[in-house]
Amino acid sequence: MFLCCWLGLVALIPTTLSTNPGVKVRLTEKGIEYGRQLGMAAIQQKLGSIKIPDFSGTEKVSPIGKVQYSLSNMHIVNVGLPKSSVDLVPGTGVTLSIGDAFISLNGNWRVKYLRIIKDSGSFDLDVNGLSIATTISIKSDETGRPAVSSDSCSATVGSAKVKFHGGASWLYNLFTTFINKALRNALQKQICPLVADAVSDLNPQLKTLNVLAKVDKYAEIEYSMVSSPTVLKSSIDLSLKGEFYNIGKHQEPPFSPAAFYLPPQNNNMLYIGMSAFTVNSAAFVYNNAGVLSLSITDDMIPKSSPIRLNTKTFGAFIPQIAKQFPGLMMKLLVKTVKTPTLTFEPNNATVQATTTVTAFAIQPNSTLSPLFVLNLEASVSARMFVSEMKLAAAVTLNKMDLTLDKSNVGDFQVSALNSILQGVFQLVVIPTVNVQLAKGYPLPTIGKMKLMNTQLDVLKE
Ligand SMILES: *[C@@H]1O[C@H](CO)[C@@H](O)[C@H](O)[C@H]1NC(C)=O
Ligand SMILES: *[C@@H]1O[C@H](CO)[C@@H](O)[C@H](O)[C@H]1NC(C)=O
Repeated sequence: MFLCCWLGLVALIPTTLSTNPGVKVRLTEKGIEYGRQLGMAAIQQKLGSIKIPDFSGTEKVSPIGKVQYSLSNMHIVNVGLPKSSVDLVPGTGVTLSIGDAFISLNGNWRVKYLRIIKDSGSFDLDVNGLSIATTISIKSDETGRPAVSSDSCSATVGSAKVKFHGGASWLYNLFTTFINKALRNALQKQICPLVADAVSDLNPQLKTLNVLAKVDKYAEIEYSMVSSPTVLKSSIDLSLKGEFYNIGKHQEPPFSPAAFYLPPQNNNMLYIGMSAFTVNSAAFVYNNAGVLSLSITDDMIPKSSPIRLNTKTFGAFIPQIAKQFPGLMMKLLVKTVKTPTLTFEPNNATVQATTTVTAFAIQPNSTLSPLFVLNLEASVSARMFVSEMKLAAAVTLNKMDLTLDKSNVGDFQVSALNSILQGVFQLVVIPTVNVQLAKGYPLPTIGKMKLMNTQLDVLKE
């Protein structure tokens, strides 16, 4: 399945609704039209499988009298569905209407009359002006995946034309008066159940919605639907949970999704809107897993950089360090102290992270001597992009604010460390974060769906 996609990242509009989704998926009329084409191919194939049982009877045909007849070996040779349309019925579902359809079949006939005369041959039957109308409802199944069913269906057969090969002309009378109706009924009876079959054949596909998508060894994303799909005038909207969880441990974060709306656009087949809630639930999960920390040593800083993690470099700004710990290498531990938060502004996704940076001197016997602890508030901008069926990102540092939390090396001017720490962030922390973010996070997906010509917008609402 190839879908042209738009992906919006939207800020939350605070409201007090109960179960708001973190992610919304909108299938527009263009997407539905694409679905109709696939659906018609499936229905055409189903109708081609119609089996009409042999049947026989006795009728009085003038001028012959009593005729015993039987029809056998009937099979469909052609099904045409030239006209069909799908209409959305807001609040209800989808109506599929098929018109001017035709079915051709052939079979064998056999008659016996005047007690002893037997005759047989073949015939072709063309049934025209077939119309089928069915209402398809879309619900959420018990696992939070979409499920479709054909709720009501009607099929009417227009005219039927028969051509006999072999046999006398009065056979035609036998057909038009008696057999025609029986055959049409037999056909008509089978159409709706087969259409219902074709509709429910979509369910195994829909069941492939990744309601629990594994991200890595810490996290999974839940994409189950929080309510039944909403059928609107020109789209079908799915409300998905869109929440990260620690694998196997579904603890709710201290914040919940607020309502958000997809923009009223319909140029693409599919729109996916992801709220800041989804990203923030990810931050909550990773923060809980204790993986939002990074231990930085000198070997992680490019050789070409003048910044070295040793007591000589830091001693230039904090003389106590040079005096107390001469000639030692250093280590920095950067750790988030609370869940980073993301906010969406038009064309701008910003993450605010509150961290501590603990500096150690590494003694020759490998013991770490703590030197000082800084509070570091960092603001980073995230650029997001879709790769395969994943949402990936890259961040850049906007600014950072440093304050002193604790010092074992006397008082010092924190601002003096600004440029060193900026350098460490640019050279080590940001690139490390970006390697992670580039791996991407699974988007909601069904079957072999691929997004094409993806466009991504960051919106305020
Ligand atoms: C995004 O917003 C943040 C915070 O409002 C700001 O610091 C940053 O410069 C903005 N970035 C862009 C690319 O506009
Ligand atoms: C390691 O060396 C430091 C400084 O010389 C010393 O204070 C500490 O006790 C040593 N630790 C061990 C485990 O030997």
